[in-house]
Amino acid sequence: MNAQAHYDNHLAAFYAWMTGNFDTKQQEQEAYFSNKHITPTGSAVAIDLGAGHGLQTISLANLGFTVYAVDFNQHLLSELNARAKGMTVRTILANIANAAQYTMNAELITCMGDTLTHLESVQQVNTLLGEWNSILPEGGKLVLSFRDLTQELEKEERFIPVRAEDERIHTCFLEYFPGFVRVFDMLMEKQNGQWIQKVSSYQKLRLGIEQVKIMLSAAGFVVQDHEVIQRMHYLVAVKRKD
Ligand SMILES: C[S@@+](CC[C@H](N)C(=O)[O-])C[C@H]1O[C@@H](n2cnc3c(N)ncnc32)[C@H](O)[C@@H]1O
Repeated sequence: MNAQAHYDNHLAAFYAWMTGNFDTKQQEQEAYFSNKHITPTGSAVAIDLGAGHGLQTISLANLGFTVYAVDFNQHLLSELNARAKGMTVRTILANIANAAQYTMNAELITCMGDTLTHLESVQQVNTLLGEWNSILPEGGKLVLSFRDLTQELEKEERFIPVRAEDERIHTCFLEYFPGFVRVFDMLMEKQNGQWIQKVSSYQKLRLGIEQVKIMLSAAGFVVQDHEVIQRMHYLVAVKRKD
């Protein structure tokens, strides 16, 4: 199953529950942007790629950006829209790989919460970094956050408890291959007193942090900041002068 089918048929329905309290997570993202001085300085337009239910989109709108939130899953964009009422947010149902759709004059592009590893190949990541660079003005910023999955978890470590409540339990299982990890999202749900198991899987790229930094540099960015927060690598990259 590809990533889109995985979200459409399985993960999107419980993604918001899986991530926990929206306000807490959203405020963490907003604090991150504030700490890194990610505030409008030019067009005040941001494109949030793989926006999901809006943790970064809402944060950026709160900080004064007009945000174009791009995602290929309608369920998550509908949740985002419900939260973004009255805010300077537009949702776009599309594949983020289609860079030609970004005709808006953005000064900021974000691709966060591990969306980068959902792409099809390292080559596609490489191509997109170049295209995102060409969209931005000089000094424009790209903010990425992703997990470096190059280190293999072994044996029992590959079973990751994500969230458990009385009627619902979510566990992840990781199977490693050269270049990618197959991620199984196993959901147990109690329905009419019976436990029902639903399992679906998709691939994530095993992108190394140094590899991404090299690709960013080759694409025309300078990495301005790198921080690891809850095992997620956060990078702020700035488009450099030619
Ligand atoms: C792990 S979630 C991250 C969502 C959000 N940024 C966050 O931090 O909660 C990845 C999101 O990217 C979307 N996505 C993954 N690959 C995509 C693609 N090629 N085009 C559009 N959306 C994509 C998924 O639907 C999902 O909403």
